[in-house]
Amino acid sequence: MNNFEYFNPTRIVFGQGTIANLKHLVPPSASVLMLYGGGSIKRNGVYEQVVSALTGRNIIEFAGIEPNPDYDTLMKAILLGREKGVDFVLAVGGGSVIDGAKLVAAGIPYRGNAVWDIVTKETAIKLGDALPLGTVLTLPATASEMNGTSVISRRSTEEKVAWASEAVFPLFSILDPTTTFSLPIKQVRNGIVDAYAHVLEQYATYPVDALLQDRQAEGILLTLQEIGEDALKTPPDYATRANFMWAATSALNKLINKGVPEDWATHMIGHELTAFYGIDHAESLAVVMPYLFWHQRQYKADKLVQYARRVWGLSGEGEAVIRAGLDQMIQFFNRLGMPTKLTDFDIDPDDAAERIRARFESRQVLLGERNHLNPDMVAEILRMSR
Ligand code: NZQ
Ligand code: ZN
Repeated sequence: MNNFEYFNPTRIVFGQGTIANLKHLVPPSASVLMLYGGGSIKRNGVYEQVVSALTGRNIIEFAGIEPNPDYDTLMKAILLGREKGVDFVLAVGGGSVIDGAKLVAAGIPYRGNAVWDIVTKETAIKLGDALPLGTVLTLPATASEMNGTSVISRRSTEEKVAWASEAVFPLFSILDPTTTFSLPIKQVRNGIVDAYAHVLEQYATYPVDALLQDRQAEGILLTLQEIGEDALKTPPDYATRANFMWAATSALNKLINKGVPEDWATHMIGHELTAFYGIDHAESLAVVMPYLFWHQRQYKADKLVQYARRVWGLSGEGEAVIRAGLDQMIQFFNRLGMPTKLTDFDIDPDDAAERIRARFESRQVLLGERNHLNPDMVAEILRMSR
């Protein structure tokens, strides 16, 4: 097992009816900037629950944070927050609203040149540099509610960039599974696939004798497989959605990555696909991961065999069982209604391969747990997605 440090300051408040706890969680004297998305919280009753829990408090609202939150939108929220002198940020929504709120929380007190420098890591945001942030999660998928990561899009330059800081771990996150009842099925599908991919990014690398971490990762994969198809059913079932919600948080709350190598190449390639072609985050992962793992099977062999055997109950050796395990993954995604080829989204694999190869080459990007996946290999992987 590799050396590690573990830090996670986020208080999780889980269960039905827990939005009412906001009145205890938000400091009474706080001047709150409340951020939300395109309006789902107004249609499903979450907005009323938040506002009623915070009756009598000083709240300034900022609506309209879009999926794949855009830098220009977030700059408007930052300027509003500065103008009103807010000292607390409350995000109500999915990963996009929470990721955006992290940049807003760091950006309001930031006195450097451009807030974009935070995203590009030219400015390091340290513990204490950001305003305190609380969240009410409405979409299980990213685990942004319990980590310090934020992914920001900049449509004007076709960029999508991840940054992270201990300063933007939420102080608290409220997870009420009933908030997910209004989710379109497509978003449930996306959430399951995103969470599943998160686990594999931290698992399908090479063994370092981290026995507990392997079992924890496999436990989350098995749970997502067990509840996946049921989570798509209507009317939604509380127990299923509760298990989905906690599994998605557990997939990327930075526990299962402790002491183990991490990959994240699928995510880095996926972010480029979203930036160039606009496909959803989870869709971008499903059209890359099966091919990337097959392409890298020589380096990931031990863990891919373990995945096939322990997670899918397959027997056999070597490439045959690796292939069978990856086929099970593809079939699972397809059963959820998730396409697994670039061509399913009318994206030309050759075009994607060339654009992303050129971008990675200009940025001198090397990916994967061994830092050896070069732009030409990325292009080969994308060409396989047909
Ligand atoms: O904007 P509203 O109206 O709220 O609608 C949203 C949005 O259209 C809707 N929605 C959310 N909760 C709902 C709901 N609709 C009905 N009922 C509800 N309860 O769902 C749509 C998608 O929301 P979004 O927040 O974009 O989805 P998700 O949570 O999947 O977040 C995706 C973003 O997170 C980033 C992705 O790159 C992408 O930008 N990620 C963040 C990570 C992190 N912070 O650690 C890790 C991930 O790998 C990922 O990269
Ligand atoms: Zn993801």
